[in-house]
Amino acid sequence: MSTGTEFLIVAIDGPAASGKSSVARNLAQRLDFAYINSGALYRAIAWLAAMHHIPPDDIAAIMSRLDQTSFEFGIRNKELFILMDGTNPGTHLREHIVNRTVSIVASAAEIRAFLLIQLRAFVRYDNLVMEGRDIGSSVFPYTPFKFYIDASPHIRAQRREAQGFQDDLRYRDLVDSSRQSSPLALVEDAYRIDSSTLSIDAVVDRIFEGLKAQNFPLAYLQR
Ligand code: DC
Repeated sequence: MSTGTEFLIVAIDGPAASGKSSVARNLAQRLDFAYINSGALYRAIAWLAAMHHIPPDDIAAIMSRLDQTSFEFGIRNKELFILMDGTNPGTHLREHIVNRTVSIVASAAEIRAFLLIQLRAFVRYDNLVMEGRDIGSSVFPYTPFKFYIDASPHIRAQRREAQGFQDDLRYRDLVDSSRQSSPLALVEDAYRIDSSTLSIDAVVDRIFEGLKAQNFPLAYLQR
């Protein structure tokens, strides 16, 4: 499948607290690509539902609320920006209520179908490093540049604790990887990196090696 554009996509998937956000952001800076954290869009919808006291599994009510909400997002200064009814939900996206409900919201096929279209549209604007759960498997399955960042459960729990967030990783892993609609999975053509004992820079170095092996345009790697 061709996108009809010249823009490149690096897909970074993996479970929560695997280090993929720090790695994806750092990689995007080194490549001078836009960095899109797709989880932030799922979180924004979970936050919208929480604000309106809608249970996370009441998908009809969430879709109807989305319909009545001005939900704008795009790329600004090489990063994702989100506005909900004119307000940046940024500071709320890591709240406990969002951590607790986002996997349920993200497991709904209607929500995923809605965001899939929006996520795919980003490629019209810039070269991308996009991170999430299904970027290599579902959003951009045709990109040859796919990475899966993992870490041991123990290390992931430690990382979340150090960030000061309450997050039931075991529960989110279970929901994210067992849902029917584009679950978290390691696809065959992704390059898996275990970040448990590696620094962010070391993971990004490995990604560079993987990109070279996939004939990624060298000019971007030499910046
Ligand atoms: O990466 P994150 O922890 O911020 O993602 C929040 C939730 O959103 C995660 O539990 C699963 C969901 N998600 C998803 O289903 N698909 C994506 N591409 C990104 C996130």
